[in-house]
Amino acid sequence: MPKTDVHIEASVKKTGKPHQAVHAFVDFEKKKPERHDITKMVDYTRMIESKYGAEAAQEFVQHIHDDIQCKFKDFIGTLKKRAGELSNGDTAQVPVGSKLNTLVSEAESKLKGILDYFGVVEGKNVRLYRVADEDVELLRRAGVNADDIQHCLAVAAKALEIAHRTGAALDFELIGRGALFHDLGKSKTHAIEHGRLGAEMGKDLGLPTAITDIMEKHIRGGLTEAEATELGLPVKDYRLKSFEEKIVIYADRLVDIIMDGVVKTDEEAEQRYEEILTAQIKYGKNDITLKRYLGYHREIQALMGNS
Ligand SMILES: [Fe+2]
Ligand SMILES: [Fe+2]
Repeated sequence: MPKTDVHIEASVKKTGKPHQAVHAFVDFEKKKPERHDITKMVDYTRMIESKYGAEAAQEFVQHIHDDIQCKFKDFIGTLKKRAGELSNGDTAQVPVGSKLNTLVSEAESKLKGILDYFGVVEGKNVRLYRVADEDVELLRRAGVNADDIQHCLAVAAKALEIAHRTGAALDFELIGRGALFHDLGKSKTHAIEHGRLGAEMGKDLGLPTAITDIMEKHIRGGLTEAEATELGLPVKDYRLKSFEEKIVIYADRLVDIIMDGVVKTDEEAEQRYEEILTAQIKYGKNDITLKRYLGYHREIQALMGNS
């Protein structure tokens, strides 16, 4: 399979540009198989296009294409070599049928390795997700104002971007819709009750429990029973369990820092996250909340291979 620098070289030859970021993303050592997963190509293409532009997205598809071609050329080469070895050499005494069986089982296991690498697995269900216009319309009709809708859309885009960058098998629909609807309750109030009120509205709208859970639990990144008591909210355990929930909360914080102009770029928001949340009470709230927010940041960055 072409090494990253070979991809870059081919890219320069074909397009005049190296598209280094694209090839580095796909060949990122710790996430290689996930990033070559063809069932994630549409999601990755969207993410790359929004970050680096249409030419970069095209280069991503070219990269996967070249890898598939290379892996299968290599596969045929190995088969030919093994067939040659088996038809003469020190296995001359072995019956033809047995040699063929050896060849077929070797080919099978090599082929399975290739298919696994590109994410082709028996019975796998492909689920693509993108923010639906009808969902945005639901927010508008519920009375969420234009600024808050813009915030919800930004949180959904950021959460999906982060989710894709982890390369993990996550529920993108839950992340995208959970993020989009997390502040639905702001149509009623911007006070701390907007989580609970939003979840109630979500239930009335027929949203799945996993989504209304995110809406209810997003306040201060998932309160304990003791904190809920102190804040006068219905007493229960609001703590977050899944990566899907944590990614929405992390994206919500990042979007606040970015939209408020505390940082100049999205990258800077992640790099200076700990420093900003620790220094500014507006974002870190209090010690216990800050600790949670920093915990999610570290966990998710580690999942992206940035620990
Ligand atoms: Fe909120
Ligand atoms: Fe929010």
